[in-house]
Amino acid sequence: MEFVFAAAADAAPAKAAIARIVFEGEAPEGLARALAASRFTGKKGQTLDILAPDGVAADRLVLVGAGKRDAFDTTAAEHAAAAAYNAVKASGLAALRIEGLGARAADGALGVKLASYRFDRYRTKEPAEKKPSISSVQVVADDVDAARAVFATLSAIGDGVIFTRDLVSEPPNVLFPVEFAARVKALEALGLVVEVLGQEEMTRLGMGSLLAVGQGSIRESQLVVIRWNGAADPAAQPVAFIGKGVCFDTGGISIKPADGMEDMKWDMGGAGAVAGLMHALAGRKAKVNAVGILGLVENMPDGNAYRPGDVLTSMSGQTIEVINTDAEGRLVLADALWYCQDRFKPKFMIDLATLTGAIIISLGNDMAGCFSNDDALAGRILDAAKAEDEGMWRMPLPDAYNKQIDSMIADMKNTGGRPGGSITAALFLKRFVNGVPWAHLDIANTAWKKPSTVPTVPDGAVGYGVRLLNRLVADHYED
Ligand code: BES
Ligand code: MN
Ligand code: ZN
Repeated sequence: MEFVFAAAADAAPAKAAIARIVFEGEAPEGLARALAASRFTGKKGQTLDILAPDGVAADRLVLVGAGKRDAFDTTAAEHAAAAAYNAVKASGLAALRIEGLGARAADGALGVKLASYRFDRYRTKEPAEKKPSISSVQVVADDVDAARAVFATLSAIGDGVIFTRDLVSEPPNVLFPVEFAARVKALEALGLVVEVLGQEEMTRLGMGSLLAVGQGSIRESQLVVIRWNGAADPAAQPVAFIGKGVCFDTGGISIKPADGMEDMKWDMGGAGAVAGLMHALAGRKAKVNAVGILGLVENMPDGNAYRPGDVLTSMSGQTIEVINTDAEGRLVLADALWYCQDRFKPKFMIDLATLTGAIIISLGNDMAGCFSNDDALAGRILDAAKAEDEGMWRMPLPDAYNKQIDSMIADMKNTGGRPGGSITAALFLKRFVNGVPWAHLDIANTAWKKPSTVPTVPDGAVGYGVRLLNRLVADHYED
């Protein structure tokens, strides 16, 4: 998609749809008859399509409701512009001009960039008339230069979200751990430093917990370490992000039911978000030192698979009795978290994981769960999530629930039963954090949307987490 910023007086491109942002209670001039014949009032989410009206220099005019003018924040601007794009994307026209965003033109452009995302690598027979036709967007701005400058940063963030969506959308026969690592390695072109550890090195490090999960797969497990050194002081303590990257989760020997199992291709959404975040930080040259760690495995049933009943020794030295091989994400994160704090001594660690079905039961479809041992960090994360319109709710970590993961023969069990399933999973992770300020984001309910209810998110991979974590870094941890 091509984006051009223009002044209101600049001409519209040829063969363009024109979208006009309309605030609630502010009737646009010259369209009284069209409006009288409709229920369009300018409420958020409304659109009114007017085909080739006389006196309008457009083949198509779309009015887009943006709600109240004084509530027109960045999210509202993104959504309004995305709604404009969605209304005309399959119209057959090649260009879209968006008018009325005022000082929020760059936000609108980001909205269109995210809304126009499409994963169509594997379609070979789609008829042309079903493909989106809009390939360029002209965004009218109050201050064209300022909008262009702001969009340079926003576009880099959008590229990070898109990188995540691509990873999450890929089928599991294509994106297995080695391939995932290779795609991240290619980000060195952006200035990131990427190390890939294979099973031999992880064995040497004693990562018996992570390695157990992958041992039933013919695909080699990988631990990827991504570094962005953007702080003025190269030795400045880094911030750290850790992602669950289960490239496919069959459940292993505790196998999942067939129905919906294909969804478990996106059980690497946490690792995908960390990779996208690092892409965004590098793309906008963030003034921070940041580390991203991805634990990449495939959880398969096999003659060599780990079993319920096995006792694993993690890198921390703590032992884990496996009760259910489908509670594999926490086993991957246990070693990744321990490795991270041990090697990098970070300011904080934030892990992202499609960890539990129970978070869907607790919080529904639109709020990820935030678990943290540090109120200040949790507060900053929640503020960032709110600013980026990524739903999140703080969850408790009550010590008393630890007894649910006591084991008779090892230091802990890997499941704590049905009650508070997301909480006991988080309490399990906390044992591998070693006192570092830490937050765990359970994104099992937000990484994938079908159907999506947000105009900037097409059905499928959301890219959840990239924006809020980028915002957290930008607001609090840059030079
Ligand atoms: N990857 C799943 C969690 C999940 C479920 C993500 C639905 C996205 C949508 C995870 O590995 C898992 O299987 N968790 C189990 C844990 C249980 C065995 C303690 C669960 O939530 O059922
Ligand atoms: Mn599982
Ligand atoms: Zn899983």
